[in-house]
Amino acid sequence: MGIQIRSIAPSEFLQWAAVLALAFTETSPKDERERWKREWEDESQIGRCLAAVEGRDIVGTAASECFDLTLPGPAVTQASGVTAVGVVPTHRRQGILTRLMQHEMDGAAERGEAVAILYASETLIYGRFGFGPATLHAEYTIATDRPDFIDPTPPPGTLRIIDGQTALKILPPVADRHVAVQPGAIRRSAPWWNAWIEEGKPQDGMSERFYVTYANPDGDVEGYAAYRGKGDWSRGYAHDTIRVNHLIATTDRAYSALWRYLITLDLAGEVTASGRPVDETLRWLLADSRRMRTTWLSDGLWVRLVSVPAALESRRYTAEGALRIGVRDAFRPENSGTYLLHGGPDGARCRRDAGAPDIELDVARLGSVYLGGVSFSRLARAGHVAERSSGAVQRADAMFSSPIEPWCPTSF
Ligand SMILES: CC(C)(COP(=O)(O)OP(=O)(O)OC[C@H]1O[C@@H](n2cnc3c(N)ncnc32)[C@H](O)[C@@H]1OP(=O)(O)O)[C@@H](O)C(=O)NCCC(=O)NCCS
Repeated sequence: MGIQIRSIAPSEFLQWAAVLALAFTETSPKDERERWKREWEDESQIGRCLAAVEGRDIVGTAASECFDLTLPGPAVTQASGVTAVGVVPTHRRQGILTRLMQHEMDGAAERGEAVAILYASETLIYGRFGFGPATLHAEYTIATDRPDFIDPTPPPGTLRIIDGQTALKILPPVADRHVAVQPGAIRRSAPWWNAWIEEGKPQDGMSERFYVTYANPDGDVEGYAAYRGKGDWSRGYAHDTIRVNHLIATTDRAYSALWRYLITLDLAGEVTASGRPVDETLRWLLADSRRMRTTWLSDGLWVRLVSVPAALESRRYTAEGALRIGVRDAFRPENSGTYLLHGGPDGARCRRDAGAPDIELDVARLGSVYLGGVSFSRLARAGHVAERSSGAVQRADAMFSSPIEPWCPTSF
């Protein structure tokens, strides 16, 4: 029987979500699926849910969400955030995901979303579709037995613990100010915030989620942390685990004040924070920085240039320069070709060009360097970038590098 790829009707959402759970071999309680449906209905997102259908059965799922993605500059582009990808175990390796991804990329191009982004469950899946890892995620575990900061004086200002409903009012504008300057970050919608606060109940044997804000001496909120705790008395003394869910700071003093709060919580033995940037400044604040260990490091956000010239024109460039980039794109061959990019701190122009390229690379590698967190020279050393004119890789590095390490604090 043939497989058809189509959008789902809202009445099919719960069945569609159950198929996704099956693909992930996960339980998906009905109330959770209903909450998800409400969130996506509010965002008019259900029209962007694709299904691979065989007869009356859904055998594959994929969806996308339109995000404002911050680019180096800072600048903003509308990105297609691909999510909810799954194929039922009986139908794997028959090309269903490939067809779903063709629909996803065509849809993004039609809507004018020049960039697609995603988080990958496995590293080997998405390179063939032109995605490259563009940010890293780290997890840090901080032993709290020596919590001293190099500067013993905490920043002036006020820490305040707030409940979920208050958090819903106070946190979004703070997060938005952070997103506006953080390359790789995406702006969260009101339905996202509602769903996130709803998920704040106790889970996985951990406490409910607690919210703490930092306000400067004028009373302006400059950052927040959200965390859960789990008691552990098995050693005969308290050695609780604190799991930091989010720590967002728009100023250095907010950053320092919030970390001090978390690391000095009574009864805590260790503080774990995952999904964090690789350039976490905390290491440079702690007197005994070895107490902070990197316990996980992995790829974070993957990026795909759906339209090469539109994507390259959307961001700003650290150094003024011109570069002819030869791009290979096997999955969307219409993207393949040579592009002349003129870019600088104030903007960029990019168009197809008949000249010989200065550098050549696959579109997935261009996705990796796009946010400025991976250098062309590193990819060249790994054999992924070919330098065709002398000095071009160095020039590309100077243009594309970002003074702020790209990081996406939000999963989707
Ligand atoms: C990942 C998944 C969606 C792939 O679906 P699929 O329909 O089997 O994929 P396709 O048949 O279109 O595969 C296309 C190619 O990718 C390869 N591929 C697919 N999944 C892969 C994986 N997990 N690891 C390595 N290669 C993979 C296939 O072998 C095939 O290669 P080929 O073109 O050389 O033959 C499916 O296996 C799945 O649902 N996995 C569990 C849930 C999951 O991880 N989802 C992704 C969330 S980000």
